[in-house]
Amino acid sequence: QADGAALDGRGSAPDIRKGLAGVVADTTEISAVIPETNSLTYRGYAVQDLAARCSFEEVAYLLWNGELPTPLQLQQFCVRERAQRRADRSLLTLLAKLPETCHPMDVVRTVVSYLGSEDPDEDSAPADPAGALVAAREKALRIMALLPTIVAADMRRRRGQDPIAPHTQLGFAENFLTMCFGAAPEPEVVRAFETSLILYAEHSFNASTFTARVVTSTMSDMYSAVTAAIGALKGPLHGGANEAVMHDMIEIDEPGRAAEWLRAKLDAHEKVMGFGHRVYKDGDSRVPTMRVALGEIADRRDGGAWLEIYRILESEMQAATGIKPNLDFPTGPAYHLLGFDIPMFTPIFVMSRITGWTAHIMEQSQSNALIRPLSEYNGVPQRAVPA
Ligand code: ACO
Repeated sequence: QADGAALDGRGSAPDIRKGLAGVVADTTEISAVIPETNSLTYRGYAVQDLAARCSFEEVAYLLWNGELPTPLQLQQFCVRERAQRRADRSLLTLLAKLPETCHPMDVVRTVVSYLGSEDPDEDSAPADPAGALVAAREKALRIMALLPTIVAADMRRRRGQDPIAPHTQLGFAENFLTMCFGAAPEPEVVRAFETSLILYAEHSFNASTFTARVVTSTMSDMYSAVTAAIGALKGPLHGGANEAVMHDMIEIDEPGRAAEWLRAKLDAHEKVMGFGHRVYKDGDSRVPTMRVALGEIADRRDGGAWLEIYRILESEMQAATGIKPNLDFPTGPAYHLLGFDIPMFTPIFVMSRITGWTAHIMEQSQSNALIRPLSEYNGVPQRAVPA
């Protein structure tokens, strides 16, 4: 018997979609993943065009507001974002208390939860929908502005380095790289990194975004929804794959070993991280753009060997299985060549996806229905509790 409901009215078995594969759960105006054409649009704009022409801040504004900003709107948006980058003493004390042995995703998850506990307006919102939306955008902007400061400080403390305070004159991507490494790299490298942030920003009802929408559907608060989404993103079948890709490439170590390594993986029926996608079956629309960005970074960071391992794994995987890379495949070596420690890769994904998650949280709040699917019970039949 399906949970709390009739089967399908005719008494036949319910159509169970394991993993909700193929289930259309709701409508969204935020992004469209179009597997037939391998394309992805944010608010109607192709993601590769946004990556070519826009800053990450413009994309964040677009996701939250539905339109790209005018120059004045962008300037005001950036002023407000830059003004909220600094972490106060209580946040830095919290960071210092978290063990350096924990995964950096545990840090961002805890910090977002803490930000909620500090926000006097965590659970309150103006009664009128327009006012509620403005207040939600402000909360989202605060989290977006603070996350890079925390991620950079966390990476540096694990290296025994002091944190670097955020800049108020630098763009989002350049400021983050400066807080991590003390100086910004060449403009082409900053741009390649910014490209990754734009590509990671939004991807319809993926597992972490859907998690955020489920939490929001109970009328819980934005911080709770983002905290839960971070937990979902941590897993290696989702955001954690970019870390796994780089661990694998380091294990392979040299191009001459790549084909043999892949064969052993497939013979053992193990998943190859950075390949495959639930929605795209003929290639992830974001990969070509990120592959170019990886090339930009590799050219300037002596990354030829990683590119060669990339090329061999991609072509051998295609020949053996027909499965193509997803965005995490080029991003793993790109972040490694940029100088990030591998466990920081998924928190960087969070810094970007916070924009998409919060756009969905706003959309879910504006047109809410509690998300509560059914299940089919297949345990032991009803029985009496022993006397
Ligand atoms: N390596 C080897 N085989 C694979 C891979 C892979 N990466 N991906 C899919 N397959 C095979 C499966 O073994 C399965 O084969 P079978 O039918 O013979 O059993 C078939 O393809 C279908 O795979 P599923 O896992 O059922 O497909 P699903 O749609 O659930 O998988 C997923 C999508 C989870 C992303 C999967 O491709 C995977 O695990 N990939 C590796 C992890 C990864 O890179 N995740 C990042 C996702 S993108 C992102 O978060 C930015």
